[in-house]
Amino acid sequence: MSKRNKTIQIDRADNSLSKNLIRLSEKADAHFLKNKIIHQDLLETLPFLPEKFVDLLFIDPPYNLNKNFNGQIFKSMNNKEYENWMDSWFNPLLKTLKPTASVYVCSDWKTSIPVYNVLSKYLKIRNRITWEREKGRGATKNWKNCHEDIWFATVSEDYYFNTDAVKTMRKVLAPYKLPNGQAKDWFTISNGQAYRLTYPSNLWTDITIPFWSMPENTEHPTQKPEKLLAKIILASSKENDLILDPFLGSGTTAVTAKKLNRNYCGIEINHTYCLLAEKRLKMAETNKSIQGYENGIFFERNTSLSSQSPKKLFTLNGE
Ligand SMILES: C[S@@+](CC[C@H](N)C(=O)[O-])C[C@H]1O[C@@H](n2cnc3c(N)ncnc32)[C@H](O)[C@@H]1O
Repeated sequence: MSKRNKTIQIDRADNSLSKNLIRLSEKADAHFLKNKIIHQDLLETLPFLPEKFVDLLFIDPPYNLNKNFNGQIFKSMNNKEYENWMDSWFNPLLKTLKPTASVYVCSDWKTSIPVYNVLSKYLKIRNRITWEREKGRGATKNWKNCHEDIWFATVSEDYYFNTDAVKTMRKVLAPYKLPNGQAKDWFTISNGQAYRLTYPSNLWTDITIPFWSMPENTEHPTQKPEKLLAKIILASSKENDLILDPFLGSGTTAVTAKKLNRNYCGIEINHTYCLLAEKRLKMAETNKSIQGYENGIFFERNTSLSSQSPKKLFTLNGE
C-alpha cells in the first residue's frame, strides 16, 4: 500500500469499540441516545425512537442501484417502489423532529424525483442543492453521472439558518477598486491573489468525494465528505443541537457533528461500518480538522491556501 494511502481500516483491536454500540428493544429517551450509534436495522428502531428530539436530520439512503454494502445487498427497484420504500421509514421518522427542525436528503438524478415526492408530502421544501461530485464512472452511451441532489426541507416556517457560517472564499478574477483606490468587497493574501467571501449558493462545486490520500477516507463505498456535512451542519444547526443520521455508514455525520460541537445519533445496520464510525469518532477526540474548512472559512476545491496562517489570510490590502 502506498505510504500516502491514509484509508482508515478496521483491525482486530478495533473490535473493542463494539462496546460503545447500542441496540433498541424498548422505548429510548433522548438523553440515552445522545452521541450514540445504534447498530440495528432502521426499521426495527423506529417504534423505539423518542419524539421531538432532533434539530437536524441528515439522510443519505442507499440510492436506487444494485449495491453491495459489505454483504448487505441493496437491489434496484422501479421509481414507485423506491418512493414507497422511502415512505415506509421516512413517515415514522417525522415524529422525531422538533417543530424547528431541518431535513436534508441526498439523492442521485434518478432518486431525486421519488425523494422530492416523499418530502413534499410532509415538509416544506426549501431548496435543492446540486453537488458536483466530480468523480464518476465513465459511460460510452450516456453522460457520466457526476452530481448529486441534496433536498433541503423544514418542518415549519420557524427554522434556523446561518449563512454567515458557510461563506466560501473565492478568487476574484477582476478585482474592482473604488475611486479612492480602495478594494470593493475583496482582499488579497500574501500571494497577491484577490479573494472574496461569497454567500453560499445551491450549486456546490468545491467538494470532492473522499479519496485514498485524505485522512478521512474509509473503505465505505459511498462515504460522504466531511466538508459537505460541515456546510449543512453549520448552516442548519447550533452548537449542542442534536443531529440524527438514520443511514450512518462510515460515520461522517457523527464525526463532523462532534468536530463542530454538536450532538449526534446514528443508525447503521452493518457492524464493520459502525466500527469505522466509532474509530473515526475516537480520532476526532484529538483531531478536529475538516479538510477544506479552516478558521471558519470554506476554501475552494484543491486550494492550497488552507496551509496559510489565519493571520496572513486576513491581512487586508495595505492594512
Ligand atoms: C449511502 S450509505 C451512507 C454513507 C454515509 N453517509 C457515509 O458518509 O459513510 C447508506 C448506508 O445505509 C446502511 N443501511 C442500509 N439499509 C439500512 C437499514 N435498513 N438500516 C440501517 N442502515 C442501513 C448501509 O449499510 C450503508 O452504510
